[in-house]
Amino acid sequence: MKVFVTGYKGMLGSDLMVRLRSEGHDIKSSDIDTLDICNLNAVLESLDKYRPDVIINCAAYTNVDGCESDIDNAFKVNAIGPKNLAIASNRFDVPLLHISTDYIFDGETDKPYLEGDFANPQSIYGKSKFSGEENIRSLTNKYFILRTQWLYGKHGKNFVKTMLSLAEKNSVLTVVNDQFGSPTYTKDLSDVICEIIKTHSYGTYHVTNSGICSWYEFTKCIMKLAKIDIEVKSCTTKEFPRPAKRPKYAPLENFNLRLCNFKALRHFEEALKEYLNETLFKEKLQ
Ligand SMILES: NC(=O)c1ccc[n+]([C@@H]2O[C@H](COP(=O)([O-])OP(=O)(O)OC[C@H]3O[C@@H](n4cnc5c(N)ncnc54)[C@H](OP(=O)(O)O)[C@@H]3O)[C@@H](O)[C@H]2O)c1
Repeated sequence: MKVFVTGYKGMLGSDLMVRLRSEGHDIKSSDIDTLDICNLNAVLESLDKYRPDVIINCAAYTNVDGCESDIDNAFKVNAIGPKNLAIASNRFDVPLLHISTDYIFDGETDKPYLEGDFANPQSIYGKSKFSGEENIRSLTNKYFILRTQWLYGKHGKNFVKTMLSLAEKNSVLTVVNDQFGSPTYTKDLSDVICEIIKTHSYGTYHVTNSGICSWYEFTKCIMKLAKIDIEVKSCTTKEFPRPAKRPKYAPLENFNLRLCNFKALRHFEEALKEYLNETLFKEKLQ
């Protein structure tokens, strides 16, 4: 397939490129330095030139706290960018796969969210991402919106790398124990992206590794698998205030994925084990 990827230098984009290349796709990749998705004319021109079979949008403004003080740019990249891609999707009759987030929900629930549940974003990041979703749904029929959460991958900063680095410098780690979700490996999300683009099963999907934990429980799991003997203490969100409000309980039930007979993603602990073995530990040995 001819695949057009935006934001290919990011955490998800990099792992997705590896997966797409392994399948032998013809790929045209872009990032902010070559195509700003906020520029409609540039988006239309690029897509008219390349005429892909599918557009995959991995570009986003992902600094959740930064969005709170940079509202215009957050909405430009997370709402107008996807809108431009949806206009192109409609004009050239090409499907658009877009990535969204659990932050579109408020997290004030006690059971995992279904795709059709009421969105009530509490942060600028969440609001801008939800606006991006709505723009896509209103401007093209051929869309896949994949909501995911707590991503970690080989490239860029992520929670796993941060905790491992903190463990090298500290004797105790203190981590919030009242926010729950499903840590998701970008490699596993990339597998789903590669499967879903081969279908016409358009719609909104929740895509996460299975299993639910708090950040504190996830940290315990990272330290156990990395064989690091360190004390991990729990704290509350109130004790660790951040500019952007995070959803408390926002695991995403992978309901539509199951209904459409896609393979369920493995448990987060299994994915994390592979990530640590294949990515970080291998790099340390080299
Ligand atoms: N990370 C998570 O935990 C998480 C959780 C749920 C959902 N998601 C979603 O998953 C997707 C991928 O996230 P990620 O963590 O891989 O993000 P990321 O590492 O921040 O990558 C995003 C990429 O997009 C680029 N970009 C920013 N503005 C752009 C623009 N106007 N035009 C073109 N490219 C632009 C960024 O460049 P710069 O780095 O130079 O800005 C970066 O290379 C995003 O849609 C995000 O909202 C992420």
